This record gives sequence, C-alpha cells and structure tokens, in this order.
Amino acid sequence: EDEKRLQLIQAHDLAAKLFHYLLLETEHGKEPYRYLLDRGVSKEVIETFQIGFSPPSWDFLKKFLIKRGYSEELLEEAGLLIRNENGSFDRFRNRIMFPIFDAKGRVIAFGGRVMDDSLPKYLNSPETIIFNKSKTIYNLHLAAKEIRKKRQAILFEGYIDTISTWKAGIHNGIATLGTALTEQHANILRRYADEIIISYDSDTAGQQATYKAIELLQPLGFQLKIVQMPQGFDPDDYIRTYGPNSFKEDILTTTITPTAFKLNFIRKEYQLNEESGRLKYIAKALEVIADLPRAIEREHYLRGLADEFKLSIDSLKNDLNQFIYEKR
Ligand code: UTP
Ligand code: MN
Ligand code: MN
Ligand code: MN
Ligand code: MN
Repeated sequence: EDEKRLQLIQAHDLAAKLFHYLLLETEHGKEPYRYLLDRGVSKEVIETFQIGFSPPSWDFLKKFLIKRGYSEELLEEAGLLIRNENGSFDRFRNRIMFPIFDAKGRVIAFGGRVMDDSLPKYLNSPETIIFNKSKTIYNLHLAAKEIRKKRQAILFEGYIDTISTWKAGIHNGIATLGTALTEQHANILRRYADEIIISYDSDTAGQQATYKAIELLQPLGFQLKIVQMPQGFDPDDYIRTYGPNSFKEDILTTTITPTAFKLNFIRKEYQLNEESGRLKYIAKALEVIADLPRAIEREHYLRGLADEFKLSIDSLKNDLNQFIYEKR
C-alpha cells in the first residue's frame, strides 16, 4: 500500500516534469506559453507553480511513463490514464497543467485548463489513494509559512486567483479545488491560521459559496473578513483590470464582516421599495443579528437597521429579544 502510494507520487512527479518541459522547451508549448503570458502569468510564476502543458495526443504521457516502467493499471489508478473498451488513453490532452501539491510539496494530482471556451474548463484528477479533494488545499505547501507567520490565510476560488495574487506579493493565498470548502479543509487551516479572508468571485456562485463558507468557518472559531469586489470580477480579473496595488490597497483593506455580508446577501431577496418587502427584510435581518454572541455587535447592526429604515432602536431590540428568546 505504502509502496503503491510512492509509485503513484513518482508517476505524478515525472508527469509534472514532462508537462513543464513541454511548455517551456518545445514547439508544443508555444501556444500555451503565449496564452499564459497574455493572462499575465510570467515565466517566473510558471516556475514557482511548475505549470506545464499536456499535448493534444491520446498517448503521449502513456508512452512516456510506460517506457519508464509504470504499468497501465497503475497509471489508471493514478488517474493519469482513462480506460475504455478499446484500451487506455491520456486523461489530460491539450490543456495547461497545474500540478496540485500536497503539504510536503509532492505532486499528487493535476488540474488542466483548456485554452478556449470548450468544456469542462478545468479537468481535475479523480480521487485516488494519494488525492483526497476534501482534504487538499491548493498552494498550502508554498503559503504555509506566511499563513503561520500572520496567523491569517486568504481563501480564493481558483488556481489562477491564487497564482495572480502570489505574483502580486500575497503569499498567504490558498484555494479549494473544484469542490466546496469542507470541514476537513477548515480543520487543517485551523492549525495555521486564526483569521481567514474569504475572497471568492463576486458572481452569484461565488457569493453563495461565501455564505456557505461563513457558516462552516464561524463555528470553528475563525475570525472572518469578506472581500468585496465589483460585480462579475474575480481576484485575477480585478488585478488584470486595476492592477495588483489596487487589489492590495483598495480591496484587501476594505473587507466587511460576515454579518454585514449576510445582511447584504439576504437583502437582495426582498423588494425594499415596498413596505411589505421592507418589513420582511427587517424580520430576516433580526434573525441574523440574533445569532451574534455579543451585545455590542448586536447593537452595532441594530443601529444600522434603525438608521436605514427610520425605526427606533428600542422597538428593534424588543423584536430581537423575541428571537433570542425563541432560540434558547
Ligand atoms: P472559475 O470558473 O471561477 O474559474 O472556477 P477561474 O479560476 O476564474 O479560472 P479562469 O480565470 O477562467 O481560468 C473556480 C475554480 O473552480 C474549479 C477550478 O479549481 C477553478 O479554478 N473548476 C472550475 C473546476 O474544477 N472545473 C471547472 O470546469 C470549472
Ligand atoms: Mn523549470
Ligand atoms: Mn467562479
Ligand atoms: Mn473565477
Ligand atoms: Mn478567473
């Protein structure tokens, strides 16, 4: 079993080296290299993240690894080959390859991106004996040092966000990989960080994921800050449009609290220009505020509601206490 794991890791290491070599040193790599440079991914960053390219062939990797003594069965189990009725073939073809490292910096999986609009945009390795998605955190091997030092991590949605922000000098950025954040991810992070800045995409999917991440992380005792970006941007888009300094100086310094995020999030579901909509939103907002453990915090958000909707803070408090009473 341990022997097998080691072989799978070695096969991934060789594959990563091959893909990286093909990207930087061969004709195959010209178009993907251009694609990366156009996206702002520099040569230096390609080296740091060991980015590569899988050629448009059904058996390039297969031949390469079989020549080096790996069996077809092992490579299937590694998720590097896919089997069908006619035999096995390379899983990753014609994609920009992002190696996924474990905490020790060993390659245990890949994410592969197409260079056009075809689907799936990213193809990831399947779960294997060396790759458990719900426990793997992208870039933890590079970011751990800075996360420990600051006791703070920045959580992104994607590979490219983590990479672009790294290039911008943010070295405590991590991401989950094509899966939602799990309790296991969170427990691993708990060992390194007390604070997490959630910096997901500002589209609907990203905002929904932010809500879920808050619900997961808050009970575990993390302090949370939530990034806000213009509609439709992710951190990489933002940096490419407004520059790395603006991301650091305008975005990371103007985070909001999880409660403010939740209030903004739920208010979109109500028609605040109608009286009945306003009342429903206020009732819902009180439920969110009732969850806050400290009286000062509750007072702070109540005051916001009172000001916004021209209500007395006393009547809001009465209703709030009703919720708190019902909950306990
Ligand atoms: P996004 O769709 O936000 O992609 O998915 P992105 O990271 O901004 O990528 P670019 O900028 O278009 O290249 C966020 C993350 O979700 C996972 C990947 O980890 C991706 O980075 N994902 C997304 C998949 O695993 N498969 C997909 O088909 C799409
Ligand atoms: Mn290199
Ligand atoms: Mn997204
Ligand atoms: Mn994105
Ligand atoms: Mn993106």
